[in-house]
Parts: sequence; C-alpha cells; structure tokens
Amino acid sequence: MMSNKAFQKILYVGLMSLTPQAFAQAQPSEGMGKGLYNVEGANSCIFCHGIGGEGGNIKEAAKLKHPKTWKAFAAAGGEAAFKKDPKAFVARMKASTLNIIQLGAIRHNASYKAEGYNKAAIKPYNAQMMGLSGAASVAWMNKYKDKGITPAIAAESAWLYIQTFDQDGVFKK
Ligand code: HEC
Repeated sequence: MMSNKAFQKILYVGLMSLTPQAFAQAQPSEGMGKGLYNVEGANSCIFCHGIGGEGGNIKEAAKLKHPKTWKAFAAAGGEAAFKKDPKAFVARMKASTLNIIQLGAIRHNASYKAEGYNKAAIKPYNAQMMGLSGAASVAWMNKYKDKGITPAIAAESAWLYIQTFDQDGVFKK
C-alpha cells in the first residue's frame, strides 16, 4: 500500500501541473449541480424543493418536475412561444432562471429585465425563493471557491441538474 506521504507527494505534483488558468476555467456541470442541489443543511435547494424537485419543506416551492408551471415559462411567452421556437424560448427561460437562482427572488423581482421577458405576465416571485443565498448553498460555494467555482458557475450547474427532473419535455434535446 502507498504511504500517506507518497500519496501526498503525487497529489502535490498533480496539482502543480494545473495552471491557475485551469482553475479559473472551471466549467458548470450537471454533476456539480447535483452536489449543490442536494447539499444537506438549512435552505439548500433540496431543503425547500425536495428530492428530485418535489415534496420539500416549503409548500409554495415551484414544482421542479414541471417547468411548464414555472413563472419563467409564462414570462418567456408561455406555450405558444415555446411551440413556435423552442430553442429561443428555452434560452430566455435559462437567462431568467439563472438570474433568480443566483440572486434570489427579492433582487430578481426588483431588477431583472431582458428582451422577451414579459414581467407583466407573472406575479412577483415569492420571497422564499432564496436560490443560492440560502446558508447551505453559500457554505457549499465557499468550499469550492478556490477551485474557481463562482456563483454564476454554481447557478448554471444547478440549472443543468434540475433539467434532469423535467417531466414536461421542455428541456428535452
Ligand atoms: C428557502 C426556500 C427555497 C430555497 C433555498 C430555494 N428555493 Fe427555489 N423556490 C422556492 C419557492 C417558494 C419558489 C416559488 C417562487 C414563486 O413561484 O414565486 C421557488 C422557485 C424556484 C424555481 C422556479 C422559478 C419559476 O420561474 O417559477 C426554480 C427553478 C428554483 N426555485 C430553483 C432553485 C434552486 C436550483 C435552488 C438552490 C440553488 C433553490 N431553488 C433554492 C423556494 C426555495
């Protein structure tokens, strides 16, 4: 068996071969989103939304298995717009959803504007939607900060992961 010291040496050499740029270029991934979503503790995504996007602690939390029920779906133009140009529609949904995940409902309600985002079609988001500002998510991000994981990368990773819950066929490729 390899000694702990020998292992540390290999790990060290391995890490040194990664340039600072390699860290800076951390990419969003579904796997990272899975870790973040399911992190234990107060006000993580899973805490409010539940396993696989349903049955969490907050009954007003959006049903993540059903993106057609999301406010982002209505604000992006609803069913007609989705049918007309699914790709452009999902791009609009992605932009607004990344924003609310990253900033939480209060800041999103106050500031989000984008081409094709029809704010008048929806009620303001429920302030309980904290997104990444919940304590467990903040702790998760702090843990990976040195690896170049920014809030934007974390939000996009969560977005990739929650698409795996979709039972409405909105995100199907
Ligand atoms: C403290 C509870 C809470 C936490 C933490 C939370 N959410 Fe939510 N989330 C909600 C509630 C409540 C809503 C419904 C908001 C509304 O419809 O006004 C919601 C809505 C959403 C929506 C639907 C948005 C839409 O357009 O209708 C998505 C997507 C979402 N949350 C993803 C996440 C992800 C990913 C995380 C973790 C990074 C997270 N949420 C953390 C409570 C929470």
